[in-house]
Amino acid sequence: MTTKIILDVDTGTDDAVALMTAALSPDLELIGATTVNGNTGIDSTTENTLRVFEWIGMPQVPVHRGMSRPLSRPQMTQINPATRIHGDLLDLPAATIKAQPGHAVDWLIETLMASDGDITLVPVGPLTNIAMAIQKEPAILAKIPEIVIMGGAHDHGNSTASAEFNIWLDPEAARVVVNCGRPIRMVPLDATHRALVSLEDCARLRALGTPAGEAAARFTEKRIEGYDATQPMHRAGAAPVHDALAVCAIIDPSVITTHFIPVDIETGGFLSDGRTVCDFRFRSRKPANVHFAMDADEPKFVRMLLEILGRTA
Ligand code: BDR
Ligand code: CA
Repeated sequence: MTTKIILDVDTGTDDAVALMTAALSPDLELIGATTVNGNTGIDSTTENTLRVFEWIGMPQVPVHRGMSRPLSRPQMTQINPATRIHGDLLDLPAATIKAQPGHAVDWLIETLMASDGDITLVPVGPLTNIAMAIQKEPAILAKIPEIVIMGGAHDHGNSTASAEFNIWLDPEAARVVVNCGRPIRMVPLDATHRALVSLEDCARLRALGTPAGEAAARFTEKRIEGYDATQPMHRAGAAPVHDALAVCAIIDPSVITTHFIPVDIETGGFLSDGRTVCDFRFRSRKPANVHFAMDADEPKFVRMLLEILGRTA
């Protein structure tokens, strides 16, 4: 049986690998992608998403353009579209297909309301679209079986010492989502940094000879170069592909190890704005709300990518 999902993306190199994994996995039915402001502005995250689907020969997957700025904060001026890890536009041919008419938030609401309550939401960018949809039509909550988020960090952040990028960019939205009362799995940096993809793995991806394998190799090599230069991991020549791990966790939950704990988001801290606050205390009286991943199975993750990205549409 396949799991229906909607992938909410701010495409981005690792979002691109997540999109290809979701679109090509025989275990998932990708209903559509919604785009959000994040790694770069909304025009580019939407164009990049269209490029990815066209590249792998799946132009039929609908792409819906979403929020162009955070829920209640001004657009982050710190977004740097020239980062070495993502860049602005992905190095793929320009899209000839277009995004669907209308706003992603309205499409999310209509699609969920018309569903049998069987569509898992998979946001792998800032949580602006999902929070906006919940605020606009709270009745969608009863229709959401699970939200699987790439985002958050317990041990260390990446945007700041405390905060992971997807949460840091729109903490108010993240707060709405983690407190929405529906089942939530979070795939934070604590897990994604434990499942690195290496230069040798990139060679294997390229050797698959498929459009998805080739693009995943190229994007991951770019990530490795950027990580080695600016955010070295515990070993050189390897980098996390965060968003793809969240997709793989839906296909095979054993690729991550989770703890069911109370989680909330700091929205007012001076030094800790956007921190994912995890309550690991045994004496916590707060009810647990999030299955929070603290580890991942790197060999399994890489095996899954090689298997899925070796497929064609
Ligand atoms: C997250 O931030 C983005 O740069 C990546 O696409 C990923 O979703 C990792 O912190
Ligand atoms: Ca992302």
